[in-house]
Amino acid sequence: MRHLLNITDLTVGEIKLVLELSQRDPASLGRPLAESDGTPKGAALIFEKPSNRTRHSMEIAVVQLGGHPVYTRGEEVGFDTREPVEDIARIMSGYHGLIAARVFKHDVVTRLAATSSVPVVNMLSDESHPLQGLADALTMVQEFGSLDGKTVAYVGDYNNVARSLGEVCVMLGAHYRLACPAGYKASDAELSRIAALGSGSINQSSDPQLAVVGAHAVHTDTWVSMGQEAEKAERLQIFGSYAVTTDLMSKADSQGIFMHCLPAYRGYEVAAEVIDGSASRVIRQGHNRLHASRGVLAFMLGVSQ
Ligand code: CP
Ligand code: NVA
Repeated sequence: MRHLLNITDLTVGEIKLVLELSQRDPASLGRPLAESDGTPKGAALIFEKPSNRTRHSMEIAVVQLGGHPVYTRGEEVGFDTREPVEDIARIMSGYHGLIAARVFKHDVVTRLAATSSVPVVNMLSDESHPLQGLADALTMVQEFGSLDGKTVAYVGDYNNVARSLGEVCVMLGAHYRLACPAGYKASDAELSRIAALGSGSINQSSDPQLAVVGAHAVHTDTWVSMGQEAEKAERLQIFGSYAVTTDLMSKADSQGIFMHCLPAYRGYEVAAEVIDGSASRVIRQGHNRLHASRGVLAFMLGVSQ
């Protein structure tokens, strides 16, 4: 049985297969979330935080694979407040063919996976956002043909999105360049861990121009992730010089694209002229959340060709 808590739960070959499955006609994937008589199996989608893309793309992916999504807000199941995570996992395994959760603490998805008898998917935690990383990889592979040898810059907060993106980039052979302010960087141990994942490379500085020069794709994300709202004023001060502007984008490759997982805050981490301009791929990237989710769920449920 497969879980997807981090990008690294997949091998390089499996990521490539998932990207291939993601681009297939949904009907060709069969109905791996249905019983043999066609009855849909359940898919629990539990959200401790708000969502637009993840909820909608996962609900539709589940239906396309023959299943029946059951959306639940985190407070209704109450991980470790209403009852222990392990009791929730054991009970839900009896109703569903899949459990997916968006959580504050990564440890909750780890414990769900340790106890569940059905596959568990991390729909975003404080540590990682693997479904986003797969959709980002899909978008860049569609744009460039392959990530091998490409330069991918990430400017801003070293957060869940930056981590999953770095993992998938290095695994697929890209050169990943981070530009993050002091206090919001990846640790040296983290850089070494990611560097060892594949044939690509990773480096980090505090200089957005250094990261972006010649880059084929420039990524950023919000400076204030869900759960960090109390730090907003401080973060806006610290990240002020990390905005992706037209001037910064002009240092990228002449065909360089702009990407953002969304939701985006125009005038903060990205200028409106960039995210709404011709180099932006954010809408395709958002739409690819559906295709990548369907591809990875199909893989986890046993579709291999
Ligand atoms: N990118 C992303 O995960 O969006 P949502 O928070 O809207 O799901
Ligand atoms: N880093 C952001 C991503 C939102 C999709 C957050 O965790 O809020």
